[in-house]
Amino acid sequence: MYSKEELRKGLETRTIGRRFFVFETIDSTNACAKTLGDAGTDEGSVVVADFQTEGRGRHGRSWIAEPGANLLFSVLLRPATREESAGLLTFFAAAAVAKAIESTTGLSVECKWPNDLLLRGKKFCGILLENSFQLRELAYSVVGVGINVNQNSFPDELRANVTSLVHECGSPLDRKELLQRILLEMDTLYVEAAKGDFRLVLDEWLQRCRMFGQSVTVEQHHEQVSGTVVRLNEDGGLVIRTLSGTTTVYAGDVTVVA
Ligand code: BTN
Repeated sequence: MYSKEELRKGLETRTIGRRFFVFETIDSTNACAKTLGDAGTDEGSVVVADFQTEGRGRHGRSWIAEPGANLLFSVLLRPATREESAGLLTFFAAAAVAKAIESTTGLSVECKWPNDLLLRGKKFCGILLENSFQLRELAYSVVGVGINVNQNSFPDELRANVTSLVHECGSPLDRKELLQRILLEMDTLYVEAAKGDFRLVLDEWLQRCRMFGQSVTVEQHHEQVSGTVVRLNEDGGLVIRTLSGTTTVYAGDVTVVA
């Protein structure tokens, strides 16, 4: 893993990357960033690890990544966001990662609601947002990002749906340079997002989303919603036209129906 000094060198950001916490192995960078959040650590702190023993995915799933090959990091933020729009930080991270990957590789990144990034229809990046509230006020947010960078092989059951940057580009990428670019893009988008203005973030995200007009099924805890994607609402909910009317979903796994 890179040292804090190497990560900070040449990184000209205002907020993101103010402090680095670097680990070879950790349980979860999100868990660590939450502990830092509870302890009042500076906004913009970044926790990076080479390997996670308990990497967290959405809906209580695990995020498993080969040691030393990928990017696994979490950013601690304290934005002045309304409670209803705190979920938009997922889109903030997605837009920043997409922009950085596109400028580094020349590839076109697709944003899939709510928190996935795809290359040629396969997932290479997942984002896990964990918000902490105090009396309905957002105390802090942890944006966790897992990117398959130089991982070459995946378990059989994932192979059809998952990819990595090395697989798509044909040659390995410098993880430190990529992380610095992502943090720079985050820093730029955060100027407005920190004030609760997500227009630029949503604009970047919407440009890369191909789900509108598509037929989808959204799996939620105990129910399934099927219909056509109409739009994204101002709080990041996906508006879907179903046979019985229009409904908005805020979480779930989306499958595009061919
Ligand atoms: C998902 O697609 O389910 C979200 C995956 C998020 C994984 C990242 S890896 C770094 C950070 N730390 C965690 O424990 N999870 C996130």
